[in-house]
Amino acid sequence: MQSVLDLIGNTPMVDVSQLSPSPNIRILAKLENHNPTGSVKDRIALAMVNAAEATGELVPGRIVIEPSSGNTGIALAMICAQRGYRLKIVLPESVTEERRQVLEAFGAEIIPSPGEEGSNGAVRLAQLLSEQNPSWVFLYQYGNEANPLAHFEGTGPEILADVPDITHFVAGLGTSGTLMGVGSYLKEQRPDIKLYAVEPPSGETVEGLRSLDDGYVPPIFEKWGGVDLLDGKRIVRPAESIYWARRLMVETGVFAGLSAGAALAGAIKVAERLVEDDSAAASLQSDRAGLATIVFLVSDGAWKYLSAGVYGRELGHDDVAEAAEKLDQLIYF
Ligand SMILES: Cc1ncc(COP(=O)(O)O)c(C=O)c1O
Repeated sequence: MQSVLDLIGNTPMVDVSQLSPSPNIRILAKLENHNPTGSVKDRIALAMVNAAEATGELVPGRIVIEPSSGNTGIALAMICAQRGYRLKIVLPESVTEERRQVLEAFGAEIIPSPGEEGSNGAVRLAQLLSEQNPSWVFLYQYGNEANPLAHFEGTGPEILADVPDITHFVAGLGTSGTLMGVGSYLKEQRPDIKLYAVEPPSGETVEGLRSLDDGYVPPIFEKWGGVDLLDGKRIVRPAESIYWARRLMVETGVFAGLSAGAALAGAIKVAERLVEDDSAAASLQSDRAGLATIVFLVSDGAWKYLSAGVYGRELGHDDVAEAAEKLDQLIYF
């Protein structure tokens, strides 16, 4: 009989090309919200726990500590509960209430960090606490090789198997594990595949994502090729991520979180540039072979963001801008 941990990965791919700016550009979404705790982070949480067990660092009775205001914390809380480890999550005080509740329901202990310091403040506090308590196991997703490896060995091969004609991969950048792991695998197999990171502008927040221009560069990003691996990045503002998350929901039925809206916005920008750059633009309307197949990642579902009030039905720009402004008060990462 399978355990719930066996259900991690092998997520479905759906065609959302009705949102594409060109009939010759396909846009496909990999639904990581289908993982057991509802996000892509189940993959890396399991991989980090397995790796720490394999080295003997994580043994029964040890305490695991990790800073996270969302998905990694929730994934670890479920997995640690299954494996019998105590878990402490350093959580910025400003996160939405449902996250706190899920973490506590799975038995994780919450250590609050100052809300105004955001995710970087949570990372600093977790670092300090793990130095003060050397017996605690600090998994540190930003620097843990198991993070990109989970994507190199799992997410990447799944994408290529499902979409052999993929030409572009677009994903948000948080720890960079997804982009570095999937990107390394795809480039190794097919060097012609293009890889795009989606980031918010410096100083703005799209949940789950970070701007490298804000100063913190995750160690795994540098170790796995960083900017050299990427073919480019697309900057997406919070209002655009809300706009595209809503369109994804209303027009395709994919009930996705805001970083998926951002990744889709990035995919649309990549598609629009392809249309512009195509020297035979007129022929796009003809029946010639497809111009591109773009895959983007839906990192999680929309449930945890409902209380932030950004999934209203109106798609008007004023409304979206207002929702984005409201989001500014919250920290998600
Ligand atoms: C909702 C969401 N989207 C995107 C990401 C970014 O993924 P990665 O950390 O693999 O770069 C994260 C986590 O960091 C996330 O929680």
